[in-house]
Amino acid sequence: MCGIVAIVGKSPVAPLIVDALKRLEYRGYDSAGVATVEHGKLGRRRAEGKLVNLDRRLKDEPLGGTIGIGHTRWATHGVPNETNAHPHFSDGVAIVHNGIIENFAELRDELRRDGYEFTSQTDTEVVAHLVARELAQGAAPVDAAHNALKRLQGAFALAIMFSDDEDLIVGARNGPPLAVGHGEGEMFLGSDAIALAPFTNSITYLEDGDWVVVRSNAMQIFDMDGNKVERRRQQSLSTSFMVDKGNRRHFMEKEIHEQPEVIGHTLAHYLDFTKGAARPFDLPFDFASLDRIAISACGTAYLAGLIGKYWFERYARLPVDIDVASEFRYREIPISKQSAAFFVSQSGETADTLASLRYCRKAGVPIGAIVNVRESTIARESDIVLPTLAGPEIGVASTKAFTCQLSVLAALAVRAASARGTISPDQERAMVRSLSEVPRFATQALKLEGQIEQVSRELSHYRHVLYLGRDTNYPLAMEGALKLKEISYIHAEGYAAGELKHGPIALIDEQMPVIVIAPHDRIFEKTVSNMQEVAARGGKIILITDRKGAANATVKTLETIILPDVPEFVAPIVYALPIQMLAYYTAVFMGTDVDQPRNLAKSVTVE
Ligand code: F6R
Repeated sequence: MCGIVAIVGKSPVAPLIVDALKRLEYRGYDSAGVATVEHGKLGRRRAEGKLVNLDRRLKDEPLGGTIGIGHTRWATHGVPNETNAHPHFSDGVAIVHNGIIENFAELRDELRRDGYEFTSQTDTEVVAHLVARELAQGAAPVDAAHNALKRLQGAFALAIMFSDDEDLIVGARNGPPLAVGHGEGEMFLGSDAIALAPFTNSITYLEDGDWVVVRSNAMQIFDMDGNKVERRRQQSLSTSFMVDKGNRRHFMEKEIHEQPEVIGHTLAHYLDFTKGAARPFDLPFDFASLDRIAISACGTAYLAGLIGKYWFERYARLPVDIDVASEFRYREIPISKQSAAFFVSQSGETADTLASLRYCRKAGVPIGAIVNVRESTIARESDIVLPTLAGPEIGVASTKAFTCQLSVLAALAVRAASARGTISPDQERAMVRSLSEVPRFATQALKLEGQIEQVSRELSHYRHVLYLGRDTNYPLAMEGALKLKEISYIHAEGYAAGELKHGPIALIDEQMPVIVIAPHDRIFEKTVSNMQEVAARGGKIILITDRKGAANATVKTLETIILPDVPEFVAPIVYALPIQMLAYYTAVFMGTDVDQPRNLAKSVTVE
């Protein structure tokens, strides 16, 4: 999603802004731009595509000035080209924007009637003209910005700069995050603390409805009525974080390989391996007295939640209502007073997930946030933060955050089952022991990389792929399909293996590889029947299983990938790794932009 950086500084800011924008690349974008003010004049460079293109533009035509705003744009209104790239200008006003101005069409018509000409297809340009019109009518810059902000509906983060004041940037937040960075005689604005990390770790997060006047030596935050408000200044943990691929080709590859370690950290946070029990940290509810829980999330995080549902229901006998957040937020779901709600999000900023959280907040139930970014909005608005300790995830396709989300959900399911008396102390010890072994199983799974790379070479020749699984392997099949389509652009579907004959079997022919995720568990034989149905129709099977499964599969496979024998409870965490590697290597063979696939954003701050 779009990224914003703004600096009121003391040295030339254009290169600093581009450098900070690079730290926001992980959010996904398709064009970029920077504007500065020098000697009372606005200057701007913009470029379609990656930041190297903007870098090149700046090398050919450098921009001076010690105040500036920069932007990476993820297109919502208008194609990703140079004209639509931010910053947008209007008569001495420059603007960058993340989000959607919902009433832009109405405002555009009004501004056109007043003679303003639009040069882009964006919703953002209306804001530049609105501010410029206020200035033309005699308002001072800060008032002009405030008056314009009051006209806007929708979700936005904005930074506004003026040619007539080289010591002023106005920022605003209503939805997507925006943080103020405090420097020595210089001040910053950024979409997150990671962007500002090279400059400062002293951060103030704006809250929804806040706007801020930033000058080199001071800043003041206001609410929409113009009242001064105080927000806490905090030390960000992001400063020590270096964006680095190590010796890997891609962040995604590095992040896949980090999993044994980060899963271990995450599990140890929630489980006492010595005692063989879930840690008894304070929760704002008692699992024993809940009648159900609600879970909501988007994409991969939703699929983690769906696996969590299987665990909570099977082991803790606790019913789970789960929905993708874009549906959850509008469906007017009845929320039981005896429930708790969990929101799963790597970024902690996903707009739909945040809206679902706020819906549950209104319903008055306790809220837990399973998030990777602890300083995020979802974390801040929850009653308890249940962190995934995956470390920063830069690859747009989620890998280590997913397995860490699963780790938190598995540990919570153990805690819930123990509190509700649905497992005995011996069973709890056995479940905790199984989880403690996951980092080792994950390390063994990574050793299959060579074989998976070969299978992926074959997969890259097909246009469609089907994934099948039963039980917790069904959401995992959907995750496999999601991962493959988002980074390799090969069409893929994940199905419950038992649903095959209710439709998708019509797709099976020699051109349809079918990836079956089937450890030798209670229902393995059922999945074997489904594989036979595929094989009988010429489908090419890639089976991901364990030794016993391989020995008992009784069907011809194109390839069988044999994972270590793992307890059924933890299998989805371990089986996620070959699924991720398959997608990764297929994308590498396809030659796509693995870490920043087209059209995708890491942090989806618009609905
Ligand atoms: C897929 C992927 C997305 C995210 C989704 C939610 O690999 O990364 O589907 O899972 O956009 O994002 P978060 O977890 O930040 O709420």
